[in-house]
Amino acid sequence: MDYNRFIEEQIAEIKKVVGNGKAINALSGGVDSSTVTVLAHRAIGNQLKTIFIDNALMREGEPKRVVKIFSDMGIPVELVNSRKEFLTALRGLTDPEEKRQAITDTFYSKVFSRLVKESGAQFLMHGTILTDIEETVAGIKRQHNILTQLGIDTEKSYGYKVIEPLKTLRKDDVRKVAELLGIPKEISQRIPFPGPALAARIVGEVTEERLETVRAATAIVEEELADSDSFQYLAVLLNDYATGIRNNKREFGQIIVVRCIESIDARVATATRLPWEKLERICRRITEIKGVNRCLYDLTPKPPATVEYI
Ligand code: XMP
Repeated sequence: MDYNRFIEEQIAEIKKVVGNGKAINALSGGVDSSTVTVLAHRAIGNQLKTIFIDNALMREGEPKRVVKIFSDMGIPVELVNSRKEFLTALRGLTDPEEKRQAITDTFYSKVFSRLVKESGAQFLMHGTILTDIEETVAGIKRQHNILTQLGIDTEKSYGYKVIEPLKTLRKDDVRKVAELLGIPKEISQRIPFPGPALAARIVGEVTEERLETVRAATAIVEEELADSDSFQYLAVLLNDYATGIRNNKREFGQIIVVRCIESIDARVATATRLPWEKLERICRRITEIKGVNRCLYDLTPKPPATVEYI
């Protein structure tokens, strides 16, 4: 595939379709939405409005880091604080599907649809890739197409059109296009991270306090395993407590699971055989997090387990 040609064609196409109009897109910091942002910015410059929605479920420092990466590339990104809306929608929910649904509904039906309307944009740029379309059609993934997610014919209802410049590409192609567009490796080569973000790694209720715990554990795991060459690595907070001893006192503490896997495409996976010393170091650091007194390493392959815990 001629990636340079792909880039030129897509830029020309976006220019042609948007014309003198306005487009909007939501950036998550993942490789797909990042690539769409740069392509569209090259095509239409400040006729594009890019927003990053802080949903309170991101990793440590992520919203600011993503905004900075793009501002260093000369692309302005508006950071929208929607933390309260997401945390309120998640309050009291423990069922995995209900949690996922609450996040999707808050994003599309409340926050994003409001921002699109306020912007007056006639076009919405979306990072749908070929695999998303295939998996949606096959029923593997529940939602990916923004039209279905909004549950409406956007053009009829609101007068805006969805543009999906990456819909013929697979992940590897997107990474190559991203690199050619000058997107830093930190984004183009990033390990997978789920849409529901850290909420996918909390069993039970998602609260600000529990997010803080899993966020701290995630930072440790990502730092320690950055050089592991593994497909994906993560930390999960369980909804259970175990007895421990700290400063000669018994305490009932929280439990963090560390997961690190080998995989090609996340359809099947096996646990990485990490060096024992590495595991011990991760365990020591994680049990220094306030309220956490146990750390477990998950050996389960997929199947029967999935990668994420909800
Ligand atoms: P599971 O947990 O289904 O995960 O074995 C397979 C891969 O998909 C990622 N994942 C998601 N990615 N939205 C995403 O964009 C999601 O809702 C989602 N859930 C899981 C997961 O991190 C793994 O790489």
